[in-house]
Amino acid sequence: MTSPSELSKEQLSRQVRQHLDSLKAAGVDWLPAGSIPSAPSSWNQTQDSVNPKPQAIAGSQTNKETSNTRRQGLFEDVGGPDPTTEAKPTCSGIPLEKRKQELKVLTEKVCQCTRCGELASSRTQTVFGVGPVGADLCFIGEAPGADEDAQGEPFVGAAGQLLDKIIAACKMKREEVYICNIIKCRPPGNRTPLPNEAANCREYLERQLELVQPRFICALGSTAAKYLLNTTQGIGQLRGRFHDYRGIPVLCTYHPAYLLPHRSPGKKKDVWEDMKMLLAKMGRPVT
Ligand code: URA
Repeated sequence: MTSPSELSKEQLSRQVRQHLDSLKAAGVDWLPAGSIPSAPSSWNQTQDSVNPKPQAIAGSQTNKETSNTRRQGLFEDVGGPDPTTEAKPTCSGIPLEKRKQELKVLTEKVCQCTRCGELASSRTQTVFGVGPVGADLCFIGEAPGADEDAQGEPFVGAAGQLLDKIIAACKMKREEVYICNIIKCRPPGNRTPLPNEAANCREYLERQLELVQPRFICALGSTAAKYLLNTTQGIGQLRGRFHDYRGIPVLCTYHPAYLLPHRSPGKKKDVWEDMKMLLAKMGRPVT
């Protein structure tokens, strides 16, 4: 095989053009600006100031995966209608308003749940989920921690602040994604949810996802991946490719808590690689 140094400029540029054309044909219309993998610097800062410039593949306008996500990106740029509140066509045929109502009913049902005796007696409140019905992307974590148990909202503690930075680096807003957990109650001492707890909560999670109808799911950490996908594979094996949950593409990545300074902050660059893969699949700008 000819090495790049043996090719003429014309041959090299033809090969690059062919490669870009094949990426474009596959629906990839944005490429990263640099080749050295590193996480956005804002993930190490307390104040988020990421505003990277995406690089477009010349002439690319189409998005094979979803026209909705592309439109959403444009709305952000030009200040059009709020994509988080605009009605989208439904796949299941249940109108958006009905799905919102049913999600409220489900939230109330979960509030009353006592299926897991230990969790029901130790929780301050249930933590159902947050975000718009019809969100393009749903993040699924493991279980509420102390902050989430106190506030009733998922990912509001230290891991949540890092998740917010990850979302911002993806040029999305927290308000436009859906965020929930495998189980809806805090396990005492933040222990890992037990299999029977995940099984008890499964019906709620399945219905929640059925009503929210995200187009993509990002499973945060091995516990979320394990219970969502019903797999015994570890997060290291699951990363780097898409999985399937009832027809929805699922990307698995490290849990934000694992990226905190006292654990493995060096893994942030891997999470950023995962997010770029997800963004490309979603048809959103990859920076
Ligand atoms: N960790 C999780 O898995 N979920 C939360 O909501 C908070 C921390």
